[in-house]
Amino acid sequence: MDCTLIGAPLQIGAGQLGCEMGPSALRIAGLRSALEDLGHRVSDVGNLSSRAFDEIEHPNSAVHHLGETVAWIEAISASAYEHSQHSMPIFLGGDHAISAGTVAGLAKRAADKNRPLFVLWLDAHTDFHTLETTASGNLHGTPVAYYTGRAGFEGYFPPLSNAVPSENVCMIGIRSVDPAELKALSVSAVTVHDMRAIDEHGVAVLLREFLEKVRAADGLLHVSFDVDFLEPEIAPAVGTTVPGGATFREAHLIMEMLHDSGLVSSLDVVELNPFLDERGKTAKLLVDLVSSLMGKRVMDRPTLAG
Ligand code: ARG
Ligand code: MN
Ligand code: MN
Ligand code: MN
Repeated sequence: MDCTLIGAPLQIGAGQLGCEMGPSALRIAGLRSALEDLGHRVSDVGNLSSRAFDEIEHPNSAVHHLGETVAWIEAISASAYEHSQHSMPIFLGGDHAISAGTVAGLAKRAADKNRPLFVLWLDAHTDFHTLETTASGNLHGTPVAYYTGRAGFEGYFPPLSNAVPSENVCMIGIRSVDPAELKALSVSAVTVHDMRAIDEHGVAVLLREFLEKVRAADGLLHVSFDVDFLEPEIAPAVGTTVPGGATFREAHLIMEMLHDSGLVSSLDVVELNPFLDERGKTAKLLVDLVSSLMGKRVMDRPTLAG
């Protein structure tokens, strides 16, 4: 597979600084060679930068760094559109606000290819706030609302050429939802699997159901992996830890099933804050998980015939 690594060192969408160093940490942890060892052709286009920007005020005074975020979303969206034409883009975040750009650009590309885009959102949070409902003002809490075309971004975020239908979005790992998000989700078609669903059914059942839907629609699948999806003890390098996250084994199983599906066409790895890491532990785990997604396995697993 041809993969393109794209650094998107945005950090002001989060409440704490440090995600700017995320792309560097993933590179230092050996992402490129891990993928090359699996037989992929990898090009690394380096880090994106944004155009010059003016800050923008919003009636919700909690909202901060809006002008800067918008400038980055434009750059990231253009890059996502470009690099998804002939390769699998892997976006190295950066906070989760980058996904407003990645998904917007990928949705435009999917429309060109006449394929529906699906999004698997692996996260403790639903990131379903609009500019009006966010109480923290941290714009990493808004990308899903934006790319599914909810009202509340007009005149601020870049106009969306193609929204992702909310029924094409599946979230797994959810354990922190704000009241305004819950209210909006209750009237939306987004599939939300919280930790209770994982405990009752296991990740394999939940994921398989979604993958079957993507396959039946001949869809393209974007995976957006927020570090806080994981249990904080195994992945401490994130500013928004929530206890009770996905285990090492659940996370690898998801990645291996995604690989076996052959459906994944793009990936975000977001919210890694190396300032909070313990001797590179989280960055190394992420490289390992991306390797599983890209075909690394313990044993060959031939289909049991007859
Ligand atoms: N819902 C909270 C907020 O809006 C937390 C969002 C966390 N998002 C993230 N991408 N880590 O502030
Ligand atoms: Mn303000
Ligand atoms: Mn997130
Ligand atoms: Mn999160």
